[in-house]
Amino acid sequence: MNPHDASRAGADSLAVAVRNVTKIFPNGDTPTYALRDVSFEARCGELTMIVGPSGCGKTTLLSVICGTLAIDSGTISVFGHDLGGMSVAEITGFRSKNVGFIFQQFNLIPTLSVMENVSIPLILQGWNYRKAEEKAASILAEVGLGNRLNSFPKQLSGGQQQRVAISRALVHDPKLIICDEPTASLDAKTGLHALELLKKSACRPDRCVIVVTHDSRIFSFADWIAEMEDGRVVRSCPAAEFHHG
Ligand SMILES: Nc1ncnc2c1ncn2[C@@H]1O[C@H](COP(=O)(O)OP(=O)(O)O)[C@@H](O)[C@H]1O
Ligand SMILES: [Mg+2]
Repeated sequence: MNPHDASRAGADSLAVAVRNVTKIFPNGDTPTYALRDVSFEARCGELTMIVGPSGCGKTTLLSVICGTLAIDSGTISVFGHDLGGMSVAEITGFRSKNVGFIFQQFNLIPTLSVMENVSIPLILQGWNYRKAEEKAASILAEVGLGNRLNSFPKQLSGGQQQRVAISRALVHDPKLIICDEPTASLDAKTGLHALELLKKSACRPDRCVIVVTHDSRIFSFADWIAEMEDGRVVRSCPAAEFHHG
């Protein structure tokens, strides 16, 4: 067990446990070892960052945690559920209920209004449209977009679009929030604002937030940092003990 574990919350707060996972992309004759015997943990009530240079395997690790990418060996447990023991349909259902994902390019639907974009996760879970839009409107008001409900994504700035993406990831109250490179397509100030929002509205005792980044300006928002290099986790420690460079 990690020596830091004793000082952290009890085992019941463990949200994600990745054990000895290997992921190989065949790529013809020269396979890419995207994950090499990776072990990783993330806890409820904390913002865990996965950091490291481009190509080191960060997005691959997020994808296997979400169950969108199958692994070659090892085990992955999310809130105590072993993904390896679930069918594709079960994983899809589990993900739509429990995971909120903020994509690097936001992935908003251009032909839908801001409110409709944010309603989607609720509609997928069978909510009626009126109730879904009421819930979407309330969360959009919380992030300061209450006056843009009927705008379309292209009418918003990059920072505003990201706030819509964050709202969409949180609207169905998922227990696991995942964010890939939150600052990649934003200027520094807007990127920091997004992290503040994520920290404030997503980090709750019953929720786990995982952020992937290669941007050292935002490392200070983390509670715990796992550093990757060439498909391996090379360091895992409280953010306060993580000295970059
Ligand atoms: N779908 C894929 N097919 C083949 N190789 C891939 C695929 N996705 C990622 N890779 C390779 O796996 C490695 C890790 O990629 P990735 O997880 O995207 O890194 P990061 O997110 O840290 O930039 C890279 O060498 C990348 O080229
Ligand atoms: Mg990536």
